[in-house]
Amino acid sequence: MSQRVGRRLVFTNRKGGCGKTTTSVNIAAALAHLGHRVLVIDTDPQAHATMSLGVAQSRVTHDLSAVLEGSIDAAAAVQPSYVPRLHVVPSSRRLVDFERRNADNSDAVYWLRRHLGALMDSYEFTVIDTPPTTQVLTLSALVAAREAYIPMQAHFLAMEGMIEIIELVEEVQRSRNPDLAVRGIIPTFFDSGAVFSRQILQELRSRLGEDLLLKAIRLNHALAEAPGAGHTIFQHDLRSDGALDYYRVALQIRGIKHPLQS
Ligand SMILES: Nc1ncnc2c1ncn2[C@@H]1O[C@H](COP(=O)(O)OP(=O)(O)O)[C@@H](O)[C@H]1O
Ligand SMILES: [Mg+2]
Repeated sequence: MSQRVGRRLVFTNRKGGCGKTTTSVNIAAALAHLGHRVLVIDTDPQAHATMSLGVAQSRVTHDLSAVLEGSIDAAAAVQPSYVPRLHVVPSSRRLVDFERRNADNSDAVYWLRRHLGALMDSYEFTVIDTPPTTQVLTLSALVAAREAYIPMQAHFLAMEGMIEIIELVEEVQRSRNPDLAVRGIIPTFFDSGAVFSRQILQELRSRLGEDLLLKAIRLNHALAEAPGAGHTIFQHDLRSDGALDYYRVALQIRGIKHPLQS
């Protein structure tokens, strides 16, 4: 019998505002609502995923940077969220200094995998949110993860960014993490009334094939309102298009079989 390993998902794209955090938080919440134990690791110093899961900065005594530097044990940084079964390794502005200090440290990109590997394997799913950069924090996330998902605005100008990030994932896979692969592209801000939105899906389908293209997340104001209330879409408006769309994509992701999975 092969041993089960925790699935490690990273949501990444160099572009800001394409839905990385919204997707990380709501996929994680959907998986937790489906009954799975889920860990969110917030690698973005902006801490939006941390806050969206109801972990206020005032509650963050130990953040991710302390774990990465080895000054505390990973388990000591874990915070419960208000979603049952969903825990968070929180971010804080201290990650800005961490990134600055370690900009030229080629070993630092391995610290997340090294210091949080055992913790990640104690959960069924780990979801890693990333900043809109390709520096140490994003690279650390790619080195630690096994499945990369790319949220991409359903807009032609976003296509180039998507190709760039696929190339980065492949580069990290070759040089530092053979277990990593792109498992899905998630079109976000999808406007079903706009011809170009549908054209984008066509284009993605022909370039990537059916398997990599996951269901689209529609443009939905409830998704934009939820973080302000410190809520996931499922607490904020369970009947919204956003809740339905993220639930569907979570089911798709849950169904994806990773080679390391038993
Ligand atoms: N499908 C959507 N419809 C409407 N607003 C959205 C949608 N997805 C995300 N947003 C909003 O757009 C902004 C950027 O999304 P965010 O997830 O923070 O992007 P990123 O993490 O890539 O910077 C946020 O204010 C978010 O609430
Ligand atoms: Mg973000």
